[in-house]
Amino acid sequence: MTTLEMKNVSIEFPGVKALNGVDFSVESGKTHALIGANGAGKSTLMKVLSGAYDHYTGEILMDGQALSIRSPKSAMDSGIQIVYQEVDTALIPYLTVAENIMLMDTVHNMGKKQWVNWKQMHSKAATILSEINLTLNTKKLVSELTLAEKQMVLIARAVSKECKFLILDEPTAPLSHTETNELFRIVLELKRRNVGIIFISHRLPEIFKICDEITIMRNGEVVERQRVSDTTQNKVVEHMLGQELGEQFPERSITFGNTVLEVKGLTDREKIKGFSMQVRAGEIVGIAGLVGAGKTEFCKALFGAEGKLVAGEIKVNGKRVSVKNPYEAVKNGLALVPEERRKEGILVNESVESNLSVVNLGRFSKELSFLDRKKEKLVAKALINRLGIKTPSEETKVQNLSGGNQQKVAIGKWLVAEADVYIFDEPTKGVDVGAKKDIFNLIVELASRGKAIIYASSEASEIMGITNRVYILYDGKSVKELETNSTNEEELLFYSTGGR
Ligand SMILES: Nc1ncnc2c1ncn2[C@@H]1O[C@H](COP(=O)(O)OP(=O)(O)OP(=O)(O)O)[C@@H](O)[C@H]1O
Ligand SMILES: [Mg+2]
Repeated sequence: MTTLEMKNVSIEFPGVKALNGVDFSVESGKTHALIGANGAGKSTLMKVLSGAYDHYTGEILMDGQALSIRSPKSAMDSGIQIVYQEVDTALIPYLTVAENIMLMDTVHNMGKKQWVNWKQMHSKAATILSEINLTLNTKKLVSELTLAEKQMVLIARAVSKECKFLILDEPTAPLSHTETNELFRIVLELKRRNVGIIFISHRLPEIFKICDEITIMRNGEVVERQRVSDTTQNKVVEHMLGQELGEQFPERSITFGNTVLEVKGLTDREKIKGFSMQVRAGEIVGIAGLVGAGKTEFCKALFGAEGKLVAGEIKVNGKRVSVKNPYEAVKNGLALVPEERRKEGILVNESVESNLSVVNLGRFSKELSFLDRKKEKLVAKALINRLGIKTPSEETKVQNLSGGNQQKVAIGKWLVAEADVYIFDEPTKGVDVGAKKDIFNLIVELASRGKAIIYASSEASEIMGITNRVYILYDGKSVKELETNSTNEEELLFYSTGGR
């Protein structure tokens, strides 16, 4: 058995003490969960362990021997591998699966000459994939893979090198239930081969299913370490938040106004086939369905994104509107919080305040169209407060925020916009349980102000908890409409999986 230990680790960034005297340890052949609210320091701790930073203080030891981990290479040489939270940034889309797994490992040097042995590269990559029981065509381009497959490529890359410890930072956030189970199979296989796994997730049931031990972080510190079998989900949440969670879903209104949004026969280029729906003022309408059913495609088509809409009629407040692109959508009172926030929901290189004002610059313009920076700042500060966005200041670049806090920014910017119809596509992905509650409260508040809300989610419990009515999407078609009060999770699942 090998033990990997971090002792008294601290790190600071301008304006934030992200880690404060953290002690953490894991053993080979075990699955260890790392949990904590958004911004608690989980990813930062794992970045230190995998050599992404060199300005931390404290020690890292393996079996009592001090390691000098100050670069990704030094971590890898010690057998520590990581699959980062944002899968896309770690892959080269226009190279094949084999090239992405092997990267530099198949470049041969002879004097000044370098060459690649392609045949060997593909056969080596295939061997690595089959060792963890994966079937993927090594010649396929990474850009053609699903998110789950991309993740598997990253895991294969990690285990292709010496791998004693594997860090998985929120691997399951974008995966469907089937894909998640497939990932768990691989995790258990690696565990059997004596790899130590560090697993970060906001989904407690998963942690209780596959992890042996758990470390809980809060505000840059470790507050608890336990065997999973010695604790409960409620206790873990209490340690995480420093208080009890209480009822997660707020009270919903049951009286509605006029129909705000009416959609008839919406059809897009690929997935959506003749979808019709209405949403009244103050109503929260769910779009349920499995990952891949077409929820995101529907939201995008409705918002005019990517020129997806090919047929159908959209009426806002009784008036027929043209929604050929997002600009027209916003002009006609629609707002979309998209699923893939880093790619579509935020400008990562810009500050929090610019992100919060960007969809509604008109409101911040003075005479001659100069931007009113003071007003921008005030509104940003108010939103940061209201949403509990964890950031040192409103001027911090969004890329320096933790994953869950980036999501809050993606939501916050639309609250400034004062739209009539709000479309939320999986808004709680990667968001901690406390922040989820904040988001639910916000949505209910929007509804109580007479907004029409569309809530797309593959989590049946959220559909049950937050919506008034629900449409179930199966293979691009609306197969059932239900009143939330008179249905249950089983029925949702029944129709979501194609039941009739
Ligand atoms: N490069 C950086 N520059 C400035 N601040 C940073 C940087 N990296 C992390 N932080 C800050 O450190 C804190 C911890 O962030 P971290 O990403 O580790 O959180 P997390 O626990 O992984 O949260 P999440 O669940 O949302 O992914 C946050 O307040 C974040 O804004
Ligand atoms: Mg993180």
